[in-house]
Amino acid sequence: MSPRSDDIRRYLRQNQELFGDELFLDIKSLNVLAEENDNEDLSSFEEEICECQKCSLGSTRSKFVFGVGDPDASLLLVGEAPGAEEDKKGEPFVGRAGKLLDKILAAIDRSREKDVYICNVLKCRPPNNRDPLRSEVEQCEPYLLHQIRLINPTLIVALGRVAGQTLLNVDKSLKSLRNTFHDYNGTPLMVTYHPAALLRNQDLKRPAWEDFKVIKEFLEKKN
Ligand code: URA
Repeated sequence: MSPRSDDIRRYLRQNQELFGDELFLDIKSLNVLAEENDNEDLSSFEEEICECQKCSLGSTRSKFVFGVGDPDASLLLVGEAPGAEEDKKGEPFVGRAGKLLDKILAAIDRSREKDVYICNVLKCRPPNNRDPLRSEVEQCEPYLLHQIRLINPTLIVALGRVAGQTLLNVDKSLKSLRNTFHDYNGTPLMVTYHPAALLRNQDLKRPAWEDFKVIKEFLEKKN
């Protein structure tokens, strides 16, 4: 396996600490570092990035919201960004929408501890819950990509239009993004309603349930 850019950056930093600004390139060490990184787990990755200040949300957040759940989950749920309660607690989907999400998961015989991992595109709360800015997504999405590499889910489900549009980098309506298996860097991805939308509009609960039945069937077939 070839080293990734974060491995290379780490190697160069270590090299600089040891030898100063002169570069001694050692391909073997780079490969060893890449192999070591294969054993990296989610909690060490969280530790590595939880003080992130790459965008301005770093200075307005209360807590960094990395994600929660089973590190070997086959189902990865991705929301948009933490809201006020998540920002306070440091955990995704803990407000009213999160309670509803827990009920939906129970209905497909899962929970945030059982074969599910939950996170967001952005790890920090945008002020006043505004939509994520493209520049914030650009800084934060590599973290999500690395989480996905570590979890290696069978299916990713984007919760809501903004998460779907952001992950797929398209400007389409939720309606046109639903009912399709998309591809997110090699992993199948479905888009469904955000649980907050289901709280606002009860009529969406039935189609959302249809989506989760498809999700359940897909995962059972792949198991
Ligand atoms: N909405 C989201 O998209 N994510 C959360 O974590 C909470 C609310």
